[in-house]
Amino acid sequence: MLLFLDTANVDEIRAANSLGVISGVTTNPSLIAKEGRDFAEVVKEITSIVDGPISAEVISLDAEGMLKEAEELAAIHPNIVIKIPMTAEGLKATKACAQRGIKTNVTLIFSANQALLAARAGATYVSPFVGRLDDIGHDGIGLIFEVAEIFANYDIDTKIISASIRHPLHVLQSAKAGAHIATVPYKVLLQMTKHPLTDKGIEAFLADWAKLTGQA
Ligand code: E4P
Repeated sequence: MLLFLDTANVDEIRAANSLGVISGVTTNPSLIAKEGRDFAEVVKEITSIVDGPISAEVISLDAEGMLKEAEELAAIHPNIVIKIPMTAEGLKATKACAQRGIKTNVTLIFSANQALLAARAGATYVSPFVGRLDDIGHDGIGLIFEVAEIFANYDIDTKIISASIRHPLHVLQSAKAGAHIATVPYKVLLQMTKHPLTDKGIEAFLADWAKLTGQA
């Protein structure tokens, strides 16, 4: 399973990218708004940091408007992936993008049927939102299992991005469920590096080394 970073903050993206574990970035209008910067400028800067798929979301609600935005965003850089909300209009826009060779990430997926529809419309990626389902007492990871099973049953090559990740356990469970990618907030990425026994182990090694070299 690949890891994408779920943020529009370029400092976080630079820091995560320097770890060498990030294959792409996902943004959304809320994450862009948090940065208080020009949308196209942020997206362009992200493409200069990470050499991989960068999702940028349209805000139009009609297919024609979505397609127009998609064409503008796709012109920024070849790595741009157009994030399109999972609606009937979104499906039309996804199909039109596929016909034009524009990659898409159909977002706000909360059911396996939505994922199947997006895939059949030609989506490059689908993004089931694990955490937001858990928030309302549903089974977010269960959805990843379902989508992975259906896509495998029919050799569907649309990639599953496990999204709305809240903690490291979601990442582990997404990998076990068969997600191709998990898009993780920077905080969760850092949490994934940690284990108390690693810290304890380093402490013990350094203490023993200090004894050997007479620094203790
Ligand atoms: C996915 O691409 C979205 O940007 C994101 O994962 C949404 O997560 P949230 O539920 O934390 O807003």
